[in-house]
Amino acid sequence: MPRQAKHPELSQLSPKAKDAAYKRKWREEKKSDPAETERLRQLQNEYKRRSRARLKLEQAPPAKRRRVATPDAGPSDSHVPVSNSPSVMDGPSDDTPNTSGSSNTQNSTASTDPSDITLCHASVQAVPSRQFIDISVTTEPPPFTRDVEIMTELSCIDPTTFSNNPPAPSTCFTPPRDLHDSKDLVTNVIGVQVSSWSDTVKWSSGFTTILPCIWTDGKNICQEDADAVRYFSQLPESDPQSSTNVVHVHHHNWSSRPDELRDLIAKTLREGKCIVIRGAEKPQVAKLDVDYLENCGFSRFMRVAIHDVEERTRNFTYPQVEGTIEEFILDLDNPNKVQFVLDLPYTGMGIPEHLRLLDHGIVHGWNQTTAEHPIVDPVHPDNFLVNGWALAHHPAVLTNFHHDSDGGVTFVQSVLGKKMWILAFPKNPNISRTKFLKHSLELTDTPIKPNKIKANWNLEVVTLEEGDMLIQPPGQYHAVFTPTEAFCKGAHCFNYEFLHEMELSRHLDAKNGKYLTNQLHEHSLDTLHRMVLHLPRVSSHTRLFTRPLIALCMMVIDSHKYVAAGGNKKKSFQRSTTAPAIAICNAIVKHFWTDIKTAVSVYVNGPDKTQGRQSLTHPGELINRSELAICLKPFINV
Ligand SMILES: [Fe+2]
Repeated sequence: MPRQAKHPELSQLSPKAKDAAYKRKWREEKKSDPAETERLRQLQNEYKRRSRARLKLEQAPPAKRRRVATPDAGPSDSHVPVSNSPSVMDGPSDDTPNTSGSSNTQNSTASTDPSDITLCHASVQAVPSRQFIDISVTTEPPPFTRDVEIMTELSCIDPTTFSNNPPAPSTCFTPPRDLHDSKDLVTNVIGVQVSSWSDTVKWSSGFTTILPCIWTDGKNICQEDADAVRYFSQLPESDPQSSTNVVHVHHHNWSSRPDELRDLIAKTLREGKCIVIRGAEKPQVAKLDVDYLENCGFSRFMRVAIHDVEERTRNFTYPQVEGTIEEFILDLDNPNKVQFVLDLPYTGMGIPEHLRLLDHGIVHGWNQTTAEHPIVDPVHPDNFLVNGWALAHHPAVLTNFHHDSDGGVTFVQSVLGKKMWILAFPKNPNISRTKFLKHSLELTDTPIKPNKIKANWNLEVVTLEEGDMLIQPPGQYHAVFTPTEAFCKGAHCFNYEFLHEMELSRHLDAKNGKYLTNQLHEHSLDTLHRMVLHLPRVSSHTRLFTRPLIALCMMVIDSHKYVAAGGNKKKSFQRSTTAPAIAICNAIVKHFWTDIKTAVSVYVNGPDKTQGRQSLTHPGELINRSELAICLKPFINV
């Protein structure tokens, strides 16, 4: 149902005149509201106070940094820490995984009712002011630092006095650029970068954002997205203390323990949970413009596929328009254009250096097999391009529920702008794959149907601020709202410990890929082959579990079953690596489980073959490495 116009008396005006008239009204309303005036006055006073505090700090001698205990504090000196909080790694040691189908990550008082088991599978600184970008008057803001907020008070400019109407409503007060303490993500966006007709919403986290809006012919053509975002805003923000699905840590508590952090990430993801690392990088203060992107290495003339939200309302499967980075940026201040770019290659930049060993596809698969198995076939570049990418968004973009394609682990880090990351975890992971697929389709069905979703999914929101990183396991269902202009970076990779989640994800894609995933990649079998070829020489430090190993064998032996829906299932995938990889998989299956049928039964039903007990995300038991060495000895040629 179309939304009622806020100012019906303006409906006869041309779009340009209407926009200008609306801005004048908006500004007048703001000025005439005593509460708003008082709020702005108090904000100014607060920033003045901080500015004075900052000056004092600058004059004082540097103080020693003090370590403060926090709920998400890192490990004690001995290995992985134990905490009373289930969200902060309370669970089995890596050597004693629970094979009962329920997660040991619950605390001891947790219910054992399957419905209670929460396994799952499944920007900041500153949003700079862009208010007067096309006015011939510029006001140079004062310099600012990351950790001290500075008041920025610009002179009052009345846009109506300019012959060329400015694109935004103006107030005499311009918020400071460092919005760390500010929950207002609306000012500087509404009427500037997003239509003045957009509604706003307050999230459980306290942030206020605009809702998606492209105002055309008297209605918001993004009303479905707006309804979905309003629904998401009411979901609980992930709580570091009580979340059983998301582990929260802060980088500074782990920076000296990269090995332990990698172990924690692996343990979290192989159980189907997500991990958020606050402060993974120092937050940046910058605005998203061509200079910023050029400094990241992207030429303003680079050709990109621009996802256009208006086009998406017409053609959901192909919303892209061709353009350059410069054109994308030029439309940032056009309230009628809401766009984003997903294909900014950023190879090698998506995973922090101290976490790159988690990328087993590259580190073990590609880097360590080419001496025995030289690369002789054409290799799809995505095998390497997925290891780093960047995304750029206009404000008010919703990406609805999906899982990332091909079953890779996803690293994502907010660089400029914030992200509301909505995560969905199955209430009961001990269900059949058929049922899980049905629930997945309900989740990805738009418009969002809250009642259906509530019945089968636990939802929570992780607000990623500038510098925060989220790592999610393969197949993790998520929706993302980008409230302000944003630039983020990330990567996908494969890991021996999460291949059971990858298999489930690819299985679902093969059944209903066009509904569940965001892209279709064809490269992953190359990397899986390489990971198999490495097994005869795999390090004892690399943890191998039963279900991920069976999953790897299934995906290599029966690769045609995992072609995503819409792909050519009859096309045979033959590489020089195909035969040796299949031979190794067959040897493993025969040695440990006699045949593939039995292996699949163990995979689906658990070691005791009691149907319904095996969780979809449980990794199973550690593989006996002596047995594996005996089994794979014939494949060591030298
Ligand atoms: Fe995604």
